[in-house]
Amino acid sequence: MSIFSLTGKTVLVTGASSGFGHHFAGVLGRAGARVVLGARRVDKIQARVDELSAAGHEVLGLPLDVRDVDSAKNFLTGAVEAFGGIDVLINNAGVEAGAKTYTMIDDEDWDYVFDTNLKAAWRLSKFYTQWVAEQGGTGSIVNIASITAYRTIKGQFPYAVSKAALVKATEIMALEGARYGVRVNALAPGYILTDVSRVLLESERSSEFVKGIPMRRYGEFSDLDGPLLLLASDASTYMTGSVVVVDGGHICAEL
Ligand SMILES: NC(=O)c1ccc[n+]([C@@H]2O[C@H](COP(=O)([O-])OP(=O)(O)OC[C@H]3O[C@@H](n4cnc5c(N)ncnc54)[C@H](OP(=O)(O)O)[C@@H]3O)[C@@H](O)[C@H]2O)c1
Repeated sequence: MSIFSLTGKTVLVTGASSGFGHHFAGVLGRAGARVVLGARRVDKIQARVDELSAAGHEVLGLPLDVRDVDSAKNFLTGAVEAFGGIDVLINNAGVEAGAKTYTMIDDEDWDYVFDTNLKAAWRLSKFYTQWVAEQGGTGSIVNIASITAYRTIKGQFPYAVSKAALVKATEIMALEGARYGVRVNALAPGYILTDVSRVLLESERSSEFVKGIPMRRYGEFSDLDGPLLLLASDASTYMTGSVVVVDGGHICAEL
């Protein structure tokens, strides 16, 4: 069996109705996991569940608004009721506020982005860690951060700030979660075309921007598969507090 196998494991993915989460559900299913998909657009979740079920994977779709406390709790309990436990929680749901600077955003932008990208990841991680502690088992959390946590460019406020905070949250949760047997790591992708990155990648700046990436291309979904499976599987048993950057060398680039 591959060291990246997820056979027998239950993996939860937030924000699985589109983009990375939609893709991750298939990658995890093919690695043998039982996958629980959550997001607000239940029609899209159901369509993905139907697709993955037809391909022979054991999957469950649940409505989820990560900003809502009860919805977050129901997502975890629904997964436990269906599959008997949770081995990995992937905090993937994320939003941005458009191409705005710090003088352009308002309180609503700030709350929307921080509540989704940071507060919700903390809250789900807290409930999950408490559940693992009650069971006396082990667990694993993968936070989907971003290279915007490290690179400094204009017009990604407060998204980039929320991702930098998520990296710090990952490190502190790793430190504190170890006593409960919970590992906490993060994946920090570079730019890959989805609804979150569309504003930049489909703008006039795009062809110039890509020249700043040493590998001279944006990422593809499949570029994340290996790093995702590393963090989700027992291949990373001695990793916690790590941030795996997948960006074609973007954060190493000269500005
Ligand atoms: N694309 C990139 O270049 C890039 C790079 C680095 C990191 N990321 C990160 O990757 C993650 C996925 O983004 P993406 O690029 O795949 O964009 P996307 O296609 O827009 O996916 C975002 C997902 O988050 C879900 N979501 C948003 N708010 C939610 C809420 N309140 N409750 C539950 N789910 C919610 C959305 O589902 P619903 O609308 O159906 O709820 C959607 O499934 C994000 O954390 C993003 O910051 C993206």
